[in-house]
Amino acid sequence: MKVLLIGSGGREHALAWKIAQSPLLTALYAAPGNPGIAECATLVSLDVDDPAVVSAFCRENGVTLVVVGPEAPLVAGLADALRREGIATFGPSAAAAQLEGSKGFTKDLCARYGIPTGAYRRFTAADEAKAYVRAEGAPIVVKADGLAAGKGVTVAMTLGEALAAIDDCFDGAFGAAGAEVVVEAFLDGEEASFFCLCDGVNALPLASAQDHKRVGDGDTGPNTGGMGAYSPAPVMTPEMTDRTMREIIEPTIRGMAADGHPFQGVLFAGLMITAKGPELIEYNVRFGDPECQVLMMRLKSDLLPLLHAAATGSLGGMTADWREETALTVVMASKGYPAAYAKNTPIRSLPADDAISRVFHAGTASKDGRLVATGGRVLNVTAVAPTVAGAQDAAYQAIDRVDWENGFCRRDIGWRAVAREKA
Ligand code: AMP
Ligand code: GLY
Repeated sequence: MKVLLIGSGGREHALAWKIAQSPLLTALYAAPGNPGIAECATLVSLDVDDPAVVSAFCRENGVTLVVVGPEAPLVAGLADALRREGIATFGPSAAAAQLEGSKGFTKDLCARYGIPTGAYRRFTAADEAKAYVRAEGAPIVVKADGLAAGKGVTVAMTLGEALAAIDDCFDGAFGAAGAEVVVEAFLDGEEASFFCLCDGVNALPLASAQDHKRVGDGDTGPNTGGMGAYSPAPVMTPEMTDRTMREIIEPTIRGMAADGHPFQGVLFAGLMITAKGPELIEYNVRFGDPECQVLMMRLKSDLLPLLHAAATGSLGGMTADWREETALTVVMASKGYPAAYAKNTPIRSLPADDAISRVFHAGTASKDGRLVATGGRVLNVTAVAPTVAGAQDAAYQAIDRVDWENGFCRRDIGWRAVAREKA
């Protein structure tokens, strides 16, 4: 099978690494890719925002499966366009990608199908949103409806913060994404991420993970795209997983199909495990980054037939096998991230990959044959071990062998799970 992978982050490096191990693979192309992905795929420069360009490449090169990493091309309709051309595509249609593209869409779906989530209202005017927030009181959560690069959510602990967040949204702080606002009840509990493959009808549970969104040790400082993650999430016991499938994932897949938008691809559920059980915080319609890196380190099964089955409606009866160990990844970012940072800083050396640890590239580039950092999040140093503490040790040992002056990382990824392990 010839495969084209779309994307250039650590998530796509992990997918490329795993797909490249498949005995079914005859060629792997990646657009645009990065220097890490180049070790397991042929990089091609394509305008991935132009479906006609992507489908022409597939026809000319005999590509029969396209795997889309990030959400933006999905929300823009890349999967619809490729499927119209008869090219199997891993990733949802634009209509199904609204599960990530519109928080209001997802909340309405939850309401229609009885899926547990915080009580909410949708607003298109500040005055009404403010009146609702005043009536409900704090803590309360204010969200820009659309894609806001992870920045459109305010968990307001005071009424003042909530009112200010409403003004920010309607004043254009998040552009078009903030033209509608969702206000929802604050959910108290422990967060976990849960991933399933879906083929429109069937859902195959993959695994759970927990991430660290804040930039600083002890989960302090501004939010980021994620500074590290580990899998499995200890809070996702077999019972919680069963309940999540039954109460959240399966009704979503049935509801999306009944509404005429069958969901194909990976469904990434952000959950709050509350005193009542699992409740949905949000959906994403792609693998998490860096959560994908820890999932791929634990996946024993061949990934390629699973992605192909999700893309072609044949997931029924398939299973995925996982290593029991913990995988943990630490993000190394450019100093200054998530604010401004220097670009093109040299990465002089990286530790060699082995059976325990592995470096996935995110924001790297090759300039005159030298590796440089070009992004905010640059490297994902990932390790597996029988315990969380062991995976944490192995990841930080590998980090200490990275020679990159302008890089930094959190030193405490996995701290909650390590503390739980020791208790
Ligand atoms: P989201 O972009 O929707 O995942 O929200 C970003 C983060 O805000 C989540 O990972 C949670 O930590 C937090 N959050 C979102 N919605 C809620 C909620 N209803 N209650 C508590 N925290 C929330
Ligand atoms: N790490 C969070 C995300 O990919 O959305």
